Amino acid sequence: MKNRTRMETELPVIKLRPVVVDDFEILWRWRNDPENRKQAVSPEFIPRSHHRLWCITAMNSGNPRVYVIEDVDENPVGEIRLQDNQDGSIELSLGIGPDFRRKGFGTAAIIKACSIAENEGFEKVLAYIRIENEISVRTFKKAGFSFVKELDFNGANSLEVEWKPGSGGA
Ligand SMILES: CC(C)(COP(=O)(O)OP(=O)(O)OC[C@H]1O[C@@H](n2cnc3c(N)ncnc32)[C@H](O)[C@@H]1OP(=O)(O)O)[C@@H](O)C(=O)NCCC(=O)NCCS
Repeated sequence: MKNRTRMETELPVIKLRPVVVDDFEILWRWRNDPENRKQAVSPEFIPRSHHRLWCITAMNSGNPRVYVIEDVDENPVGEIRLQDNQDGSIELSLGIGPDFRRKGFGTAAIIKACSIAENEGFEKVLAYIRIENEISVRTFKKAGFSFVKELDFNGANSLEVEWKPGSGGA
């Protein structure tokens, strides 16, 4: 990303760092936060053992790449994932810890993740959002995403949104 926009300078400073084993517990708590479960593909509670296996598999395979979002003091505030679709696109999903929502972290993290994807040469970044998740729709729009289509995504009425390098926002 070359030039920082006015919006970006108003967002909190964040860092994305790859997840490590010590993050398992906090990620597990966040993933089971009721709002997170409600907006996820499968809303059921995630047992600790499943979560641990999921984290280890992701860390070993590198796809999806899981990053912890850290604030300026290196406190973890959320997690963001990038899944390489192997077709030139990369899929993004995220969750902000319940205590850290509505402070600009989600928007800032999406912008940073798009910048990573752009630097790696991906043609577009995709995200799938449950149609009723207005906050997420608003957050992705703010980060420069635009509407592609409505679809059934793993059984949920959802929106596909995309960001392409040079399309603004990020
Ligand atoms: C959706 C989510 C990632 C947004 O992250 P966030 O850090 O809270 O969002 P931001 O602070 O960057 O806010 C982005 C926009 O959403 C609005 N917003 C955030 N929380 C809101 C709330 N509770 N009510 C109304 N608007 C809200 C902000 O005001 C801002 O819009 P504006 O600048 O035009 O006013 C976060 O709420 C979350 O993790 N939710 C649960 C899991 C989830 O839905 N994940 C996404 C699945 S696709």
